[in-house]
Amino acid sequence: MTIADNVQMSTDTNMDGYHEFTLGEFRFRRDEFFAYIAWPTGNHIMSVDAFLRALQRDVAWDFFYGIVNFDGVFGTVNHYGTVDIFAGRYNESYRKAELDYSENVETPKIRETFKSILADWTNETFDPFASPHETGAAFGVKNGSNINAVTRRRVAARRMVALPGDEQIRTDSSGFPINRMFKDVDQSEPVVEAEPGFENEVAAFNLFAYLSRSDVTWNPSVVSQCKDSLFCPTTEEYILPIIHGNDRVEWFVQLSDEITWEVEDRDTGARRSRVTMKAGDVSAMPADIRHQGYSPKRSMLLVWENNSAALPEMIASGKTPTYPVEF
Ligand code: PHB
Ligand code: FE
Repeated sequence: MTIADNVQMSTDTNMDGYHEFTLGEFRFRRDEFFAYIAWPTGNHIMSVDAFLRALQRDVAWDFFYGIVNFDGVFGTVNHYGTVDIFAGRYNESYRKAELDYSENVETPKIRETFKSILADWTNETFDPFASPHETGAAFGVKNGSNINAVTRRRVAARRMVALPGDEQIRTDSSGFPINRMFKDVDQSEPVVEAEPGFENEVAAFNLFAYLSRSDVTWNPSVVSQCKDSLFCPTTEEYILPIIHGNDRVEWFVQLSDEITWEVEDRDTGARRSRVTMKAGDVSAMPADIRHQGYSPKRSMLLVWENNSAALPEMIASGKTPTYPVEF
């Protein structure tokens, strides 16, 4: 593993074989079962599998939209250039006790630190993107590494999947086999008869077949981009490893099976609602909540994002409402 110059890592490993890391005043260490996070006013403990699954998303999505809560205490806020790293900031009890703490860091510094922790703490047996059914354990003393898994890039089409130049994961030759849970998904592709001269611009593909070959969970890929409108479908199984506090509205279209969403107030964590979405259901998540999904069977979900860089400020200043439609 090569360590970037600005990553603060202990020279020696601890008795379980893992390095310890420092980022500003935050300190990170792991042992066989747990990740430990310490900051000047407190400290925190998480199961290391949940910690690594959350860390994997934060790294792969480059801190995502808004807030990535690893759990009810620890997480990051993306300011698109800098990132806040916090403890207890979106937790009413920590706030009341004035034990919350946060630091703002340049994105490249936290990116490199988080990448290094992920690389060092992920054993050969563990794939943080995989369903718990499709990976070995995260636990135990240091046992190799899984660099290919933790540096996996998310699939992002530059146009629309199926148009020339897209990312192809649609056939057996792509190396992505049909997932065990999606063996029944029809693989036939639509027939497109484009007028001569339009072959480059007119296309269609079987999105269900495409998703049936996804080897990861809770990792939206981008299948089409039209200005700021991104279609980001994904396959889900078990629990979304983060509690996402959005800085914009996002839409969910449940394409198959079922997901239950726990929806909480974004700032306090107070429970707001539970939304169970069945195949065909559509919902919009407002911009002032945080949410975490539970998918009892592998399911297909379309996340529709508005990628406009102007939105966080428009919503924060009240120019744009936190909800998408007035009924
Ligand atoms: C979300 O936070 O909205 C989200 C993230 C990852 C997914 C699905 C939804 O796979
Ligand atoms: Fe979200």
